[in-house]
Amino acid sequence: MTVLYTDIRELVTNDPANGDGDPLGIISDAALVVDGAEIAWVGRRADAPDADDRVSCADTSVIPGFVDSHAHLVFAGERSAEFAARMSGQPYGAGGIASTVAATRAADEATLLAGVQRLAHELLRAGVTTFECKSGYGLTVEDEARSLRIAGAVTDETTFLGAHVVPAEFRDDRAAYIDLVTGPMLQACAPHARWVDVFCDRGAFDVDETRHILTAGMAAGLDARLHAGQLGPSAGIRLAVELGAASVDHCTYATDDDVDALAGAAGTTVATLLPGAEFSTRARYPDAKRLIDAGATVALATDCNPGSSFTTSMPFCIAVAVRDMNFTPAQALWAATAGGAAALRRDDIGVLAAGRRADFVRLDAPSYLHLAYRPGVPLVCDVVKAGQHMAYPSSNPENVESRS
Ligand code: NIG
Ligand code: FE
Repeated sequence: MTVLYTDIRELVTNDPANGDGDPLGIISDAALVVDGAEIAWVGRRADAPDADDRVSCADTSVIPGFVDSHAHLVFAGERSAEFAARMSGQPYGAGGIASTVAATRAADEATLLAGVQRLAHELLRAGVTTFECKSGYGLTVEDEARSLRIAGAVTDETTFLGAHVVPAEFRDDRAAYIDLVTGPMLQACAPHARWVDVFCDRGAFDVDETRHILTAGMAAGLDARLHAGQLGPSAGIRLAVELGAASVDHCTYATDDDVDALAGAAGTTVATLLPGAEFSTRARYPDAKRLIDAGATVALATDCNPGSSFTTSMPFCIAVAVRDMNFTPAQALWAATAGGAAALRRDDIGVLAAGRRADFVRLDAPSYLHLAYRPGVPLVCDVVKAGQHMAYPSSNPENVESRS
């Protein structure tokens, strides 16, 4: 069954072979054909082949589905009072994580699953067609394994973050907690995870601890990704490069040496920036231009979590990234789509080209530029994932003409 999506005013493909070699590969007055779950053809509307069904995109724009490579969705409770205190001048610290850990441990499985499903639906409505999901609010063998099983109900991109912080009961013996994380907890969690992550920062884990935990996770068959440089400069960024991690996330306090290291590792380690975290903690923003000009591969992600960034909106992240992090609108869109795919080491998503997964978003706007130009406006009006209309089911049927 093939479907022709036509009357696309502006189609962003992320395939530089289209257009003038620009990374966004924009085709004006475009069409695309979906065959089952995959893209079969993209090009100019006038050249489009015939298909079984036809959908008019009514002169709007189409972009690849967003790829959110960093989210913490398995938790109970919320921390709006902590946010309000920060907005009145309190600093953000890793310590707030403990209150979410307590609420998560106390919650039953059905409650946690319902919370994850609600956030997964929010992500979809915001145009996110692939997302990563971490554990990290359980911090016991059973609670971490439970978090990963729940994450696995909504995504294949699951990440073991037993090393989020040292929980209160191990405060006086952090070595024992690290033994637990790298021993029984890793054993119980590895079957449910694709990735291993560590929060390498002030108040969480230092670089030597991080190396030990990531190395153990990799030996158990997981691929590495890392939180580093959120709260201050951190050798964790260079550790991520050294270990060949897929991504090092936050990078707010990246030094010149870190930027050089990330540029040298552009094909291996992505620098993932998280504008929601700086926004919600009133922290300084990292400078994306410095990373991009140096040659690093840069992604944008939501970091959705109840403490430092409780947003599922990639359009919001793009708007902040453009306004406050020195991204051009084009760089921000690429980072939120192809950049996220690179951070998850996925080559089936992030690009709209024949043979790739049919994950795309229709914007009620003439151009992707409106994502940053019209901040806070819900422009996502149709979301297609693996060829299926996933959100806004009422937005299209009147435009569908069956030819079969
Ligand atoms: O990525 N930095 C570590 N983890 C989260 C924050 C978690 C929390 O405050 O609950 C983050 O920002
Ligand atoms: Fe995070």
